[in-house]
Amino acid sequence: MTGAEGDAEARPGGLFQDVLALSPMAMGGNLPYRRLCRSFGAQLTCSEMVLAHKLVAGGERPLLRHHPEEDAFGVQIAGKHPEVMAEAARLAEAAGARFVDLNFGCPIDLIVKRGSGAALLQRPGRLADIVAAVRAAVAVPVSVKLRLGYSEDRLNVVDLAKRCEEAGADALGVHGRTRAQRYRQSARWELIEETAATVGIPVLGNGDVFTPWDLRRRRAETRVRSFLIARGALIKPWIFRELLDDSPWCPTAAERWAIMRRFVDLALEHFGDDEKGQGRVERFFLWHCGFWCRYHPWQEEDFQALWPESLLQARTPPAEGDADTLLLASPEEDDHRLIWRRVLDRDYPGA
Ligand SMILES: Cc1cc2nc3c(=O)[nH]c(=O)nc-3n(C[C@H](O)[C@H](O)[C@H](O)COP(=O)(O)O)c2cc1C
Repeated sequence: MTGAEGDAEARPGGLFQDVLALSPMAMGGNLPYRRLCRSFGAQLTCSEMVLAHKLVAGGERPLLRHHPEEDAFGVQIAGKHPEVMAEAARLAEAAGARFVDLNFGCPIDLIVKRGSGAALLQRPGRLADIVAAVRAAVAVPVSVKLRLGYSEDRLNVVDLAKRCEEAGADALGVHGRTRAQRYRQSARWELIEETAATVGIPVLGNGDVFTPWDLRRRRAETRVRSFLIARGALIKPWIFRELLDDSPWCPTAAERWAIMRRFVDLALEHFGDDEKGQGRVERFFLWHCGFWCRYHPWQEEDFQALWPESLLQARTPPAEGDADTLLLASPEEDDHRLIWRRVLDRDYPGA
């Protein structure tokens, strides 16, 4: 499949059928990074998590923005009050969101203590009330992002999924982990499959998709046909090209410099090329370096050897190659600053 075939308008069967989506990510889902991923084929993009009560109070507005290239852009909202979530959804729709996503997976203490995000996995009735209220408030599709449950002894995703469907959800994103689990073990796809087998709406499977071989396996072993990609896209924004082509792409160091520069160009366009804008771009760039340095040209043998564990769980082997390849693999902040300067000054091979 090519990127063009992935265009939202051309896709039969609705926004959420057969899609490779950039999963919602605070910080990582900034607008320029979403554009970069879109250019590599991401078919759905989503805002960073927006706190519904802040949005309704007049804040968070910059998070609603998207670029016209994001032709299937959704806004993700989090909150615990149905009427506040409904009002936030209306504001997101008015700002141009093509869909609204409800966050019931955020594990952060601050959010969970307030009763939002993953805390709602423990309140199925309230969670369904929120879905119903948002469904009634907007005309655009409503998706719901769930985890398997709050903790290992409370794996209630199948029940939650049924309730969401009954309450009018158009699609479900299911991250195959619990709140308590964080990223310690690989995602449990058998429970994502069970969920997909139970509901009639599309399920977007989520967890550890990092290589074309992961996707091939998940497609073969489950009925899931749509996928949310998070850390894989942070480490290599070109992952969507690999997944769409069903073939790995290992860019050269020169190609990776050029991709970083592309991000900087998009970010300067968005945040502005003045001192303030450059400061913001630098902050995002250095943050992204923390993921980009984890790139490794994994081969199919590596994947086979580790399966069913994900390569995302594997320790990145020491980089081999020329000085640039070693520099790009460095986790050191000083090196990230050096990379930033060189990208800004176009001081890299092929520039
Ligand atoms: C930096 C970062 C920020 C995230 N922020 C959000 C968020 O705002 N909303 C959300 O639903 N999930 C968020 N997630 C979770 C991802 O969307 C995804 O569910 C999870 O990382 C599993 O997918 P993966 O194995 O492809 O990384 C975030 C993940 C990361 C790494």
